[in-house]
Amino acid sequence: MRIAIPRESDAGEPRVAATPDTVKKMKALGADVVVEPGAGMKSGILDADYQAVGATVAADAVSGADIVLKVRRPTATELGAYKKGALVFAIMDPYGNDAALKAMADAGITAFAMELMPRITRAQVMDVLSSQANLAGYRAVIDAASEFGRAMPMMMTAAGTVPATKVFVMGVGVAGLQAIATARRMGAVVTATDVRPATKEQVESLGAKFVAVEDDEFKQAETAGGYAKEMSKEYQAKQAALVAEHIKKQDIVITTALIPGRPAPRLISKEMVASMKPGSVLVDLAVERGGNVEGAEAGKIADVNGVKIVGHLNVPGRIAASASMLYARNLMAFLDILIDKTTKTLDVKWDDDIVKATALTRDGAVVHPNFQPKTAA
Ligand code: NAI
Repeated sequence: MRIAIPRESDAGEPRVAATPDTVKKMKALGADVVVEPGAGMKSGILDADYQAVGATVAADAVSGADIVLKVRRPTATELGAYKKGALVFAIMDPYGNDAALKAMADAGITAFAMELMPRITRAQVMDVLSSQANLAGYRAVIDAASEFGRAMPMMMTAAGTVPATKVFVMGVGVAGLQAIATARRMGAVVTATDVRPATKEQVESLGAKFVAVEDDEFKQAETAGGYAKEMSKEYQAKQAALVAEHIKKQDIVITTALIPGRPAPRLISKEMVASMKPGSVLVDLAVERGGNVEGAEAGKIADVNGVKIVGHLNVPGRIAASASMLYARNLMAFLDILIDKTTKTLDVKWDDDIVKATALTRDGAVVHPNFQPKTAA
């Protein structure tokens, strides 16, 4: 059993899919591990660190590999080097990318989309959305603080009192909760909003204040899977009015609102941005999915009359060493259930809920029910 760890070919991707810690575990499961030169460099891991735990370093790491561990979906060029039937694990970004899914099916690989991991207790340790969103939430506050021209905590000095910064977090999933906790630790006064009623208590338990229109629709706004639903136009209008009033008084706004498989909801209009004081900062963590903030530009910091809108891409990659460490552990936990410990060979149980939920392509076809090619009627 040969496992390959390629270097990510996308220049904007500093993460790596394995660490010396996880390579050690793969070796213990009987695997040969081959790492492409420089794979871990941008996450602070040297080739020698992988070699020290028994990996080989080779430019053609993927050729002949039974398993390929990646951060991003393999490109067409990369696929050319993969063995037919290889299992490939990555954040596949499958929504709206039918051609790329077909290319993986045509290449004969078995692709697993780590972000489709079901949110069941057994799979928590494999949940890449959570591990990466958690770090993104933390980093969003750090990025906001570094763009903001004032101190976060209240400071009483001989020269006068510096007021505490007001931070508003929109969307209280994994990223939002970590943003609240981080902003609180830095001494900010924090408020937060979400459409899922369960978040109110979570916000309050972190010492922040909850701000939302709490009507009947709000009370039912959560899917069985624990995700947000798209809200009605009426609700959105009421919530927008409340947010518009609140936002005028905020120094920093961090938006994290997502709805799986859909564009991110637009939460902040350009009028709301214009109502903020110059020097205020917005960080839009949803910018890659269309953005929560009007005027946010992917990969840029926009300046709108003195208000900054931060739209960094790949925010987990801005804290790459930690992100790689957690991502690699998520992959390792998944790999662990696919390997027979006695025979030390691959043994994929195709009827396992975790496997069914994440397998995208197999035997030359797209097999995931949510991504079936549209057939002519
Ligand atoms: P997400 O990344 O899909 O969305 C972020 C947040 O945006 C969510 O809280 C969502 O409700 C909110 N949102 C969507 N539309 C909004 C709007 N119009 N206005 C304001 N907020 C809006 O969500 P994430 O972070 O993946 O978490 C979703 C839930 O799943 C959370 O309750 C989380 O605790 C839970 N979870 C459960 C796990 C498990 O294994 N049991 C693992 C990880 C998360």
